[in-house]
Parts: sequence; C-alpha cells; structure tokens
Amino acid sequence: MSADGTAEAAPILEVRDLRKSFGSVPVLEDVSLSVRKGERLVLLGPSGSGKTTLLRCMNLLEQPDGGTVEFRGAPVWSSESRRGASGKELTLFRSRVEMVFQHFELFPHLTAAGNVALGPQHVLGLKRREALEIAREQLASVGLADLAGAYPSTLSGGQKQRVAIARALAMSPDVVLFDEPTAALDPELVGEVLRSLRALAERGLTMIIVTHHIGFALSVADRAVFMASGSIVEQGPPETVLRDPREPRTRDFLRAVLAE
Ligand SMILES: Nc1ncnc2c1ncn2[C@@H]1O[C@H](COP(=O)(O)OP(=O)(O)OP(=O)(O)O)[C@@H](O)[C@H]1O
Ligand SMILES: [Mg+2]
Repeated sequence: MSADGTAEAAPILEVRDLRKSFGSVPVLEDVSLSVRKGERLVLLGPSGSGKTTLLRCMNLLEQPDGGTVEFRGAPVWSSESRRGASGKELTLFRSRVEMVFQHFELFPHLTAAGNVALGPQHVLGLKRREALEIAREQLASVGLADLAGAYPSTLSGGQKQRVAIARALAMSPDVVLFDEPTAALDPELVGEVLRSLRALAERGLTMIIVTHHIGFALSVADRAVFMASGSIVEQGPPETVLRDPREPRTRDFLRAVLAE
C-alpha cells in the first residue's frame, strides 16, 4: 500500500543493483529502478552519466555485469545465474520492452511501412499482409498515413523518428524506452516528435523517456529520475525534482540545461 492507502500495481519492469563497466570504467553502479503499468518516467542527467547504458541494460541490448532484470515479476537476467533469456526468448522480451533510439536506426532499403512491419512479421510471426496492416495503422497514429510508401532518405528527421516510434508501437509493447528521441533533430522538428510522445502518454503507454526538455518532462512525467556518474542521485515527482531539487548535482544540471 502507498501512503495514500491505494494498492500499488506490481512493476512491469524492474532492475535491481545493476552494475556495468566498459573495460575498467564503471558506468552503472548499483542502479535500481522500476516502472509500473501506465507510468511515465523521465530520466535526466549529464552526458556520460549512464542513461543510455541503463536503458540498454533494461532491455538487455547490453548485458549487465551484476544485478537483476525482472519483467512482470519473473527474472530475465541475474548475476547469480550469469545468464538469462537467450535467443528467441530474448527477442520476445525486447519486443515487450521496445526501444526508440536517438538516431532512428531505420533500414534505408525498406519503406516506412516495411520498417514498421518487420517486427510484427518476423518476431510476432504475423502474415506479411497483417503486418503491413498494423504498420499502416501505427503510421497513421503518428500522423504519417500518407508516407507509408516513402523511403527513409526522403523523410525529415522528425518523420523518421515518428516512423521509429510507429515501429516500436507495432509490437504492442508493455514498455517503451525512448533514448533522447529529439536530440538528433533540427530545433523546428522537435515539437512534432514531442507531440507524438504526449499523445502516447495520454493513451496510457508505459514509458521511460531520456530527455532534457524540462517543460515537456513537467507536463508528461509521473516521476523524474536524475542520474549522475552512474548512479541515481534523486527521484520523485517532477515538480519537486525539476523545480525544487534536493541535491546540489541536480540543481547544477538543471541550471546548465535551462541556460542553454
Ligand atoms: N560501448 C561502449 N564502450 C565503451 N564505453 C562506453 C560504451 N558505451 C558507453 N560508454 C561509456 O560509458 C559512459 C556512459 O555512457 P552513456 O552513453 O550511457 O551515457 P549517457 O548518459 O547516455 O550520455 P549522453 O547524454 O551523452 O547520451 C560514458 O563514459 C561512455 O563513454
Ligand atoms: Mg545517451
């Protein structure tokens, strides 16, 4: 039970005591974080603080060195067993915990619809026709119904990122991890992607978003999480963490971001 007496839903995705080093450099140091159904987390922190690495460990694109990753209460990876889901299981897990990357990562030789249909066809095993149907629906949901047949090279950055969002949604994921989805965009294209994210939040999608857009974070997030040097420094209601943070490191970071 939480303080106000309501029963809290169990986390969908939970990592505990995650550790990760690259060579001898520790990048994550005992990071624990969980997200519940319908929750919207915003993750902030200076460059190099480990945000991308944390997201990549959360869906096992990167193998942690220690800790546990649990999905719907079941372990997917733990340091005790030093192994977890493998092969097909891992691919299925990643389709439940989708990721949207800063640089879109679309296949250039496939159309927008072809990119979005790939996962439903090859991971979920749908027929090509059904997969393309889902692709068209999801492209329409991010305002790209007319561009289903377009190749990535003919799209703007904002359109490419919306294709990437449609691709994630086409898997009907339980959680979507967004890694600075607007960071590679020209300033005038940021708004259209933030609008798509806001619409997804309103539809109840469970999401973790790495972003430095403080206004967006305040309007969308249920919880803000601030990381520095591979650790979670503070987390809580966005109004507190982003407007009246407790920790000097959070304050310094926000001052720098707001001065940009
Ligand atoms: N594959 C890798 N090999 C070696 N070092 C890496 C690798 N990936 C990340 N690092 C290092 O780990 C640290 C954390 O990187 P990470 O990309 O997780 O930070 P970040 O918070 O996402 O930063 P940014 O805001 O710049 O995206 C950095 O020092 C980075 O150089
Ligand atoms: Mg990053």
